[in-house]
Amino acid sequence: MIPVRININTEWREILVEPGERLIDTLRDRFLLTGTKEGCGEGQCGTCTINFNGKAVLSCLMLTVQADNGHILTIEGLQDGLDLHPLQTAFLTESAVQCGYCTPGMIMAGHALIKDHPEPDDSLVKHCLANNLCRCTGYEKPIQAILKAATEMKEKSHD
Ligand code: FES
Ligand code: FES
Repeated sequence: MIPVRININTEWREILVEPGERLIDTLRDRFLLTGTKEGCGEGQCGTCTINFNGKAVLSCLMLTVQADNGHILTIEGLQDGLDLHPLQTAFLTESAVQCGYCTPGMIMAGHALIKDHPEPDDSLVKHCLANNLCRCTGYEKPIQAILKAATEMKEKSHD
């Protein structure tokens, strides 16, 4: 077993893991952060997307030992107390959620995008979601939701 120290949703956690343990399993099974979903398990669907050191990564393809000393943000870490993050609110108000299975991954992909590009345009958002599959809504509404959230986050930053 290998000791690993990871900051998960602003809290440092220390665990012992097998060398081959996947990050998605650590998050879901050890920390019960089940908002991160597994779809394909082989890097094709994007449902397992989280933020690692500010970038969108596929947690099914990453080993937990690779996250040592890093910062992870999952969908559970976006909410501020009872207040939803603007991305979560926008996905609801833009009707971008149906079954919701792909939603955490799309939101975390959008979160990393907005961090790097506070004013993304349509094509940047499309590119950002290119690896996030949705079987229900299609992509127009999630794209609108991310654009709307980016606008709101920018306006709030000027309050
Ligand atoms: S579950 Fe990770 S990309 Fe599909
Ligand atoms: S909302 Fe069902 S897969 Fe996207």
